[in-house]
Amino acid sequence: MQKWQAEYQKKLVNPGEAVKLIESGQTIVLPLGAGEPSVLLAALVRRKDELEGVTLHQMLPIRSHAYLQPGMEKSIRHNSWFTSGVSRGMVQQGIADVTPNYFFDAPRLMAEYLDVDVLMATVSPMDEHGFFSFGLSIDYTSSVAQRAKAVILEVNPNMPRTLGDSFIHISQVTLIAESDISLPELKPLPISDTELAIGRYIADLIEDGSTVQLGIGGIPNAVAHCLHDKADLGIHSEMLTDGMVDLVEKGVVTGRRKSMHPRKIIGSFAFGSERLYRFLDNNPMVEMHPVSYTNDPLIIGQQYKAVSVNAAMEVDLIGQCASESIGPIQFSGTGGQADFARGVLRSEGGKGFIAIASTAKKGTVSKIVPMLQQGAIVTTSKNDVDHVVTEYGVAKLRGKTIRQRAEAMIAIAHPDFRDQLREAAHKLNFV
Ligand code: COA
Repeated sequence: MQKWQAEYQKKLVNPGEAVKLIESGQTIVLPLGAGEPSVLLAALVRRKDELEGVTLHQMLPIRSHAYLQPGMEKSIRHNSWFTSGVSRGMVQQGIADVTPNYFFDAPRLMAEYLDVDVLMATVSPMDEHGFFSFGLSIDYTSSVAQRAKAVILEVNPNMPRTLGDSFIHISQVTLIAESDISLPELKPLPISDTELAIGRYIADLIEDGSTVQLGIGGIPNAVAHCLHDKADLGIHSEMLTDGMVDLVEKGVVTGRRKSMHPRKIIGSFAFGSERLYRFLDNNPMVEMHPVSYTNDPLIIGQQYKAVSVNAAMEVDLIGQCASESIGPIQFSGTGGQADFARGVLRSEGGKGFIAIASTAKKGTVSKIVPMLQQGAIVTTSKNDVDHVVTEYGVAKLRGKTIRQRAEAMIAIAHPDFRDQLREAAHKLNFV
């Protein structure tokens, strides 16, 4: 105990000192979402005039740090592995880069293709054995920490100490800075009638004893809300959310019937409200793992009745899902959508759902289209899609012909667009 405390004190510096380690031309990796080290990043940005050609690789940045502002790219350039509201502008202007990836593959891609100089991450305070928990962001972070030439930690008492394969030992750490800044939160938004209708259709098809993954966005959140009368659900998901806490507290999630990790909630990162973060703190019911494990389709496939629920921007009549772009304009990223879509199809009794409102832009645009817009990025292939759900019903596509798929998709489109979809389907010889 004392030995680790002494080592901690030796490595403890102020944030400005810590980032002096970083030199021009270096490659930095940051955790995703709420794991980003805000105080270290602010200190790094203060050095912008001394630095040139530093690359910051990250998924889903949350806070609008100055390195995400135009004009910074010569000194510190962002490389987006999943684009968010604060990085979208830079990506769309071509002054930040995008690295395409399946989430499960991100740790391996980073190991094979990045020569990582520095990993910087927020962690929970050190325990008596000298370990820090990566808390809300294990994903690729813990794997990169094993290879980076230097590891700088921002120790923050607000970071929950999550359990599982989520720790790093003081002996592997280069420098430490401390902060007590509040963590970024994602407060649950009110659920719309459309989202509720979609949630009900999906909940009807989720059987008791299933193990569920819920993705990012309003609809997966509504699905959690509609699962309150189920029994013995399990959770195996890349992302852990507030909706899952409700299900645990209502006794719906017990994990009793999980074939892998029974009684445990398995996740790789968490993003939500303070309530979620307190739920995760030191909770033996929750195990965090690297995303190379949670999202490996072969692992997901071993789970009995694995269910995935994810959202999309556009789906065409044969079931191709453009979930991360609007036409060629990058909006988010592949994330784990394709990993789970593939994984659940390998699972005994598994089911995949792509859930979309039938329209966007206040009802003026159909999200079901004859063909995806030119340049749209296909996140989930027609061969991996199982069900597509809108507020008008469920289209079961797996195992169906192109003709049957087109018919099923037209039937769940908004009534205002069905005639034109049918006409287009005729022209394309789908029906
Ligand atoms: N045409 C034009 N605009 C569209 C559109 C379409 N077909 N579909 C959606 N939009 C617009 C919406 O109007 C909205 O615009 P606004 O921000 O100006 O209101 C915006 O795009 C976002 O749409 P919304 O439906 O609110 O998105 P969401 O927050 O529910 O997220 C995804 C949906 C698809 C972006 C998100 O689920 C995603 O990134 N998925 C891919 C990754 C993934 O699923 N990973 C697995 C789990 S983490």
